[in-house]
Amino acid sequence: MAFLPIQIVVLMQLLMILVASLCLMKINGVDLGEELTGGVHGGGSGQEQREFDYFKLALQWPGTICQGNHRCCASNGCCQGSNSLSEFTIHGLWPDYNDGSWPACCNGPRYDSKEISTLTDVLKKYWPSLSCSKSSTCHGGKGTFWAHEWEKHGTCCSPVIRDEYSYFLTAINVYSKYNVTQVLNEAGYLPSNSEKYPLGGIIAAIQNAFHATPELQCKGGAVEELRLCFFKDFKPRDCISEPHIKSYLVASSSCPKYVSLPDVQASSRYADTRVAF
Ligand SMILES: *[C@@H]1O[C@H](CO)[C@@H](O)[C@H](O)[C@H]1NC(C)=O
Repeated sequence: MAFLPIQIVVLMQLLMILVASLCLMKINGVDLGEELTGGVHGGGSGQEQREFDYFKLALQWPGTICQGNHRCCASNGCCQGSNSLSEFTIHGLWPDYNDGSWPACCNGPRYDSKEISTLTDVLKKYWPSLSCSKSSTCHGGKGTFWAHEWEKHGTCCSPVIRDEYSYFLTAINVYSKYNVTQVLNEAGYLPSNSEKYPLGGIIAAIQNAFHATPELQCKGGAVEELRLCFFKDFKPRDCISEPHIKSYLVASSSCPKYVSLPDVQASSRYADTRVAF
């Protein structure tokens, strides 16, 4: 019979479409599970999650990050000229678990810029966004860098920090008290586009000052992030405790033995000329 093979062909085509869409769903699922800002496992939006173990203050080095962000706009701190960008700026205050994972997007109010209106000037200086892109929030939308940090990490700081204003104020206070830029400057590690510094020397300077081991991340041989860790009472602690020494080595392996702290002047000059266009 002539119609039977055609039916079989149609059936096979339908099967192939079905298999293909299943594969696509799988790929999308993997993409959704991955996080740009790190993260082994986060929870879904607004879930009850177990209490965190310690805090991580994540700092970014603008001289490195701004090299990759050439597009300028009002919200891009890389384009604000020379103001205070030869210092580490805040990325976020993150609650973490000792197993290397962390809670994310916990129960808590959505970001409200009015809550922190009295802190805005300080935050612009020490916690600037270093790009023009909007960040994801926990409710399927996009928002400012600050909205992202509060909703994703800030809401999980309970019971130590319970509201948005306290979250930003606490981060600023800890950042000011444990001034990494000052420690590195005093040890002779100054922003430079020609010098390279021993990674071990940078880590030792922080250890001597705060009696705790930081975590570093590099990009192209330049320091991109430096993280300080704290117990829940904000006394410094090592970023990775003894059983997890391996993951500490993995985290620092993005840094070569000698690293640079690029001077932000070069990128802000570049940014300024872009603004002039
Ligand atoms: C950290 O120290 C540097 C260098 O001494 C200083 O310029 C900066 O204002 C300090 N930062 C804060 C937040 O106090």
